[in-house]
Amino acid sequence: MPAPANASAEEIRDVNERYHDIAARDYDAKWGIDFGDIGRDQTRQKLRKALGGAEPPRFERALEIGAGTGYFSLNLMQQDLIGELVATDISTGMLETLAGNAERLGLSDRVTTQHTDAERLPFEDGSFDLVFGHAVLHHIPNLDVAFREFLRVLRPGGTIAFCGEPSRNGDRLATVPKRLGTAVAPLWRRVVGAPARNGAGPHAGHEDEHEAEGHALEAVVDVHAFDPGDLRQLIAEAGFERIHLGGEELLANVWGWWLRSLEATAEPGRVPLRWRKFAFHSYIALQRLDVALLEPRLPAGLFYNLVLSARKPA
Ligand SMILES: C[S@@+](CC[C@H](N)C(=O)[O-])C[C@H]1O[C@@H](n2cnc3c(N)ncnc32)[C@H](O)[C@@H]1O
Repeated sequence: MPAPANASAEEIRDVNERYHDIAARDYDAKWGIDFGDIGRDQTRQKLRKALGGAEPPRFERALEIGAGTGYFSLNLMQQDLIGELVATDISTGMLETLAGNAERLGLSDRVTTQHTDAERLPFEDGSFDLVFGHAVLHHIPNLDVAFREFLRVLRPGGTIAFCGEPSRNGDRLATVPKRLGTAVAPLWRRVVGAPARNGAGPHAGHEDEHEAEGHALEAVVDVHAFDPGDLRQLIAEAGFERIHLGGEELLANVWGWWLRSLEATAEPGRVPLRWRKFAFHSYIALQRLDVALLEPRLPAGLFYNLVLSARKPA
């Protein structure tokens, strides 16, 4: 849901920082972030789609924007598609979690973290082969400024690649499973035997103070949902060439939002393992169906997410 029209860029950045600092605590568990075979496979596939179907080359020095806990970059590094990573984010909480994940995966000697806003990158001109990100562009207030920064810090001939950006259509579509999930949640909790989360059910207690603040901030952090044509124009106006835009995930996202809306009403950690396994595997199966059947056939704007790449002129 886009931020209120009267929120200033400074407010949006401030809320993003606070919201994601809070979210960092249980971000990987909430979004089912995987650093094993599934995560590696998903991220390679996303990068491949962003590059227009080409098998990704190895990028020696890469800059990630809004790196979060490292889902995209650390999974790509595990496959040796990135040599050295500079992971940036406006949230120090997220970067701390990313550093912990890098350590656990044995990647920390090739990873540097830097707390910064995407619109003001503290790096020299031409210092990266790849500038990339996942699910971040829609949080950035002045995207024209950010894309010009991406161009500046790329070497001539360098690449940008972004995935997981909500399309306007997808954003509208997601409201249906979200509403439906919330409506049938009491019945679902009874069937699977999951107790209502504090604040979600008839016997609601008190929400944890941090969570309550997180929910209040949620409405402000999402600034954009994209029309593919507008996004293409923005990238071209920043000075990029060879722009590719594609769509990904339709069935998987409708299903995923429905699952998340159900699970959000249950006490965290009390959703039975059998359900969590079912949810995870059914989501992955639909993702595969999207890849095999829908993504090659339907226009980008119909999908929930947009993927893109472009080049800085050599
Ligand atoms: C939805 S999360 C995605 C995190 C990670 N890329 C992933 O896919 O799991 C968006 C991330 O963008 C960061 N972010 C939001 N606004 C930003 C900005 N203006 N500059 C840099 N990072 C920002 C947030 O702190 C958060 O970590």
